[in-house]
This record gives sequence, C-alpha cells and structure tokens, in this order.
Amino acid sequence: MTGPLSEQERTLLYSLIARRRSVRDYDDSAIQQQTLMRMLDGAQGVTDQDGGRGAPSAHALHPLGLTVIARRIQDLAPAIYGFDPDNHQLNRQAELPAAGSLLQVSLADDVWLESAAAIIVITADHERALRHFADQQSDGQRGARYIDVEAGAVAQSLYLATLVEGLGGVLVMGVDDQALARLLPLPSGHRAVALFCLGQCRS
Ligand SMILES: Cc1cc2nc3c(=O)[nH]c(=O)nc-3n(C[C@H](O)[C@H](O)[C@H](O)COP(=O)(O)O)c2cc1C
Repeated sequence: MTGPLSEQERTLLYSLIARRRSVRDYDDSAIQQQTLMRMLDGAQGVTDQDGGRGAPSAHALHPLGLTVIARRIQDLAPAIYGFDPDNHQLNRQAELPAAGSLLQVSLADDVWLESAAAIIVITADHERALRHFADQQSDGQRGARYIDVEAGAVAQSLYLATLVEGLGGVLVMGVDDQALARLLPLPSGHRAVALFCLGQCRS
C-alpha cells in the first residue's frame, strides 16, 4: 500500500510518462552497474515480504524473468546474466552471443540490437502460465495473453526508468522467435517475450 504522494511526486510521474519515447541511438559508453540493478529491481524485483513486485501479475503467479545481455556495464564482465528478483543480483549464465548474431535474428534490421550497452530480455514460463490459467478460456490460451500484458507493464517500467537514469531504450519484439531461442540460454522452461535495448543516448 502506498501513502499519499506529494505534489512533486505526482508531477514527476506524469511528466515522465509524457516524456517517454523510444531511443535507438547509443554511444559507446558503459552503464553503471548500480543503474542497471535499479532498473532490474524496478522492473521485476521483489519489493515486499509477501513477494510483491513493481509489476502486476495475474494471480501473483509472476511467470516472467529477466535475462541481461551485458555488453558494457561498469565492473561487470561482459556476458549473459540471469536476474534473481529475490536476492537482487545477477548470476552469470553464458558468454555473450557473437557480434552480429542478434542483428541476424531481427526482422527489421534493428542495428541497435548490436550497439546497445545492454539488452534486457523479458522472458516467460509459458507452460506454467498456460497450465495455471487453462480453465479460464476454452482454448487454454489465457496464460499467454496474461504474459504479454505483464511483459508490457515491465517494458513501461523500463522505459520510465531510462528517463530517471538519463539513458535511452527501446522495446524490440520484431525478431525471429526460433532463431532467438537458439541464440540465448534462458532459464529452464522460459521463452523470450521481448527485448529492451538500453544505452547512453548519443545526442
Ligand atoms: C509491442 C511493441 C513492439 C515493438 N517492437 C519494436 C521493434 O521490433 N523494433 C523497434 O525499433 N521498436 C519497436 N517498438 C517500439 C515502437 O516502434 C515505438 O514505441 C513506436 O514507434 C512509438 O514511438 P515511441 O516509443 O517513441 O513513442 C515496439 C513497441 C511495442 C509496444
């Protein structure tokens, strides 16, 4: 539960929402590790003792996960990391994908997939969500709808966080899902839902 907000806090939130835009042009600089961690915590970290998070989730199932392709993060070896929302930490999973390989899975020549300092991959355990919500819809697909909506909430949090952190970012979903799945080591049972490219704005 939140207490009453100050006028300043209210104004800030609506001003951030109004200023939110996709940014695709990044320079070569690194992002501070604590900045990245604040963004991950804001998007998916556990924020109370009951397991509540900043992003809503149907039945509080929380089928989403975050995997980070960390290219230029200060004091963090370039690699793919899994975000642990309970312990607010990154766990190394694998080497970075080869240079150029993310661009190859793009459906629209999205070169920012290669220039971003980091890419936050929003993943989901579809089978878990489909099982859990199977009785809510005759074709059993309700869980997939919930996942897409929940990923949208996470994406909006990431967009707003980029403004607070003085960074730029863009949500990318125009990718070949199968090719991406072959490229990225994701948590067991998870598939990528969306990619959020992140970097220091060039201009
Ligand atoms: C579901 C979704 C998928 C998107 N996929 C891509 C994408 O593949 N590549 C890209 O550059 N931008 C992508 N975007 C960003 C949109 O292009 C962008 O939000 C739109 O042009 C409006 O611009 P704005 O975000 O600056 O308001 C996506 C946005 C959403 C919501």
